[in-house]
Amino acid sequence: MKLLMAANWKMFKKLDEAARSARDLAALVKNLPPDREVVLFTPFTTLRACFEALSSAGAQSLVQLGGQNCYPAREGAFTGEISPDMLLDCGCAHVLVGHSERRALFAESDDFIGKKCAFALSSGLKVMLCIGETLGERDGAMLRPVLERQLAEGLAGVPDAVPAENLAIAYEPVWAIGTGRVATPPDILGAHALIRSFLKRRFPTQGDELRILYGGSVKPENAPEIISLDNVNGVLVGGASLQADSFSRIVFAGHRS
Ligand code: 13P
Repeated sequence: MKLLMAANWKMFKKLDEAARSARDLAALVKNLPPDREVVLFTPFTTLRACFEALSSAGAQSLVQLGGQNCYPAREGAFTGEISPDMLLDCGCAHVLVGHSERRALFAESDDFIGKKCAFALSSGLKVMLCIGETLGERDGAMLRPVLERQLAEGLAGVPDAVPAENLAIAYEPVWAIGTGRVATPPDILGAHALIRSFLKRRFPTQGDELRILYGGSVKPENAPEIISLDNVNGVLVGGASLQADSFSRIVFAGHRS
């Protein structure tokens, strides 16, 4: 199973800066180890510029692109929304669904996230479903029920035979996002084991092969330890992905050439 090293640029970077970062990253990951994949989730407005920057650097297979959200319809009167088809048209292969910022700031429900997940997969995108508990939920011993609810509803419409490479889960504890407070190895091991056991029940044939990423204050300094943990199959990086140099150090974390 390849490690999936993903960058979420959130609402940062205009066209020039995004294209420059994509180009810089392409140069830095030229010798990408064969056991890793790299995906950039960039703002919608910069996807095409990044695609062109990566293509002209000959790096479009080395660094893949994804949208940070999508609407579960092919087209229609949905002002302000972007369809999976439009993401594919911009050169995307992936989409993020259910990021905690969308759940908290835009009131996205598990049911709506589930619809996006199923629709995006059926449209031909690879989906990364984000889940994670708040500090209050963790302190209230709600970790398991919260993660299991987010998984059950988020994956409700996913075909049982979904190919393992088309679906990934990103575990991002809300209290570790943008706070500098990284989850401890026992926190990560516990949550990822719980997610793995859910996936094995939900997808008996390929639950073992689905990638589970950790996200939340991942930095070049802590990435090697995080990716060495059981059931951690990659990372989803916010702040430390904005600089190509720091993200490339995460991409190569723990790799011995
Ligand atoms: P930070 O790496 O900035 O904590 O953000 C994590 C995240 O939300 C990635 O999706």
